[in-house]
Amino acid sequence: MAAVWWLRFRQSDRHFIHELRGREGLAKPGEIRKHTSAGTAVRRAKALRPSLSSPTAPAVGWKVGQAHRQDVYVSIEDSIVVEGAPRSGKGYRFIINAILDWCGPLITTSTRNDNLSATMRERARVGEVTVFDPQELSGVRSSLRISPVTGCEDPLVADQRGQAIVAGTALGASKTNQEWAHVASSVLSRLLHAAAVSGRGADALARWGSNPRLALEAVSVLSNQGTPGWAEDLDAIINGDEKLLASSWFGVSGAIRPLAIPAIRKAMTPGPGEQFDPDQFLTGSNSLYLVGTGAGAGSVGGFLGAVLDDIVETARRKALASPGSRLDLPLALILDEIANMFSWPALPRIMADGGGIGISTIVVLQALSQAETAWSRAEADTIWSAATAKLVLGGASDVDHLRDLESLLGNRRIRNTGHSYNETGSSTNIHDEKVPVMSLDEIRRMPETVGLLAYRTRRGILLDLRGWTDRHDARRVKSGKKATETDQQLVFAEQYQAALDRRRAAGERN
Ligand SMILES: Nc1ncnc2c1ncn2[C@@H]1O[C@H](COP(=O)(O)OP(=O)(O)OP(=O)(O)O)[C@@H](O)[C@H]1O
Ligand SMILES: [Mg+2]
Repeated sequence: MAAVWWLRFRQSDRHFIHELRGREGLAKPGEIRKHTSAGTAVRRAKALRPSLSSPTAPAVGWKVGQAHRQDVYVSIEDSIVVEGAPRSGKGYRFIINAILDWCGPLITTSTRNDNLSATMRERARVGEVTVFDPQELSGVRSSLRISPVTGCEDPLVADQRGQAIVAGTALGASKTNQEWAHVASSVLSRLLHAAAVSGRGADALARWGSNPRLALEAVSVLSNQGTPGWAEDLDAIINGDEKLLASSWFGVSGAIRPLAIPAIRKAMTPGPGEQFDPDQFLTGSNSLYLVGTGAGAGSVGGFLGAVLDDIVETARRKALASPGSRLDLPLALILDEIANMFSWPALPRIMADGGGIGISTIVVLQALSQAETAWSRAEADTIWSAATAKLVLGGASDVDHLRDLESLLGNRRIRNTGHSYNETGSSTNIHDEKVPVMSLDEIRRMPETVGLLAYRTRRGILLDLRGWTDRHDARRVKSGKKATETDQQLVFAEQYQAALDRRRAAGERN
């Protein structure tokens, strides 16, 4: 009986975790205390948050989990990649906690409303909450309207915005299309500029972008009011090489296509006085939820990417103008499901240098290969290597990548004792063998309550990951979530009914 119990236990997750905790080659309690504890995070506070007189660990670090019964913190200077298979607990065990713990401005992306439902009420207690959700996926009624044209009177802003929208839209586009993408973004920049200087908005943009002939109207706007030279540039493209025009206009019309849908266009047409002010946003514990998809009908990824790009650019300038070239109140970017939303060319750079200017980035991926498919191999690699903290959850199945992780964790020595028998008797031989600290298969099999942290120059850390429902304030969070979900259901019900009514009305007309 005991033998059966023992055999079962040996096969269980509990035994596996127990065995991993004592594993040679993973970080020991002393190492955790020294390098990734709350105390270590606070010791860096003087440099990171000079204005705080008595900083706490959450003000200067991200709590990623526990190891050997101690809280594990990485610095807000670190860039983090979280990688875990679908439903492995990235949201439940890390991202929602991170959103709740952050004190400072926060931008978070998602294609769904799971993080939003759990965190919106709590974030509203500490600052203003804004939801930008042109595709109406979140069920939040008071979502903000942001015009893509705002600020484009400045040619520099127009140029950057055009690039961000086209790059964000070219999700999954092969890199061989770079040439037309370049032309497309320069056309779009000129259309944005023309719309801005003539006091028009998304409507004009949608019209001009749909057809080169209609865009001639923008040429005449630009020649009267625009930046010198821009009218001629646009005119030359429209009246230039037909083949290049066709493929680059394909890029332009692809980028502005979502504007053809009335609800989306409305979301990008703010009313009088309805403005999103990035500078104001950066001054408090405000939250911006960007919700949308990068593929499929009405995908607004490019526009969401442009909003993110805009705020980060403002933050970067603000940091330069601040003491120590660092934002006094750091900005967090928690980019969940980003590979399904948009490609953001500035991401590798912000991961590499954001920590130094007070912008802390967390990128969430279901697999590294997801980033390769959505963007490019090189981009995925840069993002992976720019992350000074890599949090890996179980369930991965890409063998090559698992092998990389295995190598990243290094080797350990195990002692093998062998017995051999021959005529003269038996002999025992002992030899040391080098084996991986965690094998590929063990990394894949990690149960959902544990994660693996590869942190800077440290040894791998086996983390215990607790869901947000175990937090000390879980009751309050839960009741906030419930209230948000009740509101969302009402909005979804209204939207559903409206769609039904439209369909019926169309049926009666036919
Ligand atoms: N409130 C909750 N209480 C208990 N368990 C939960 C709760 N929310 C989520 N979980 C558990 O966590 C699992 C993972 O959910 P989570 O949303 O964290 O996945 P994910 O890794 O973010 O997946 P995806 O890549 O699809 O976003 C769920 O299958 C569920 O078992
Ligand atoms: Mg998730």
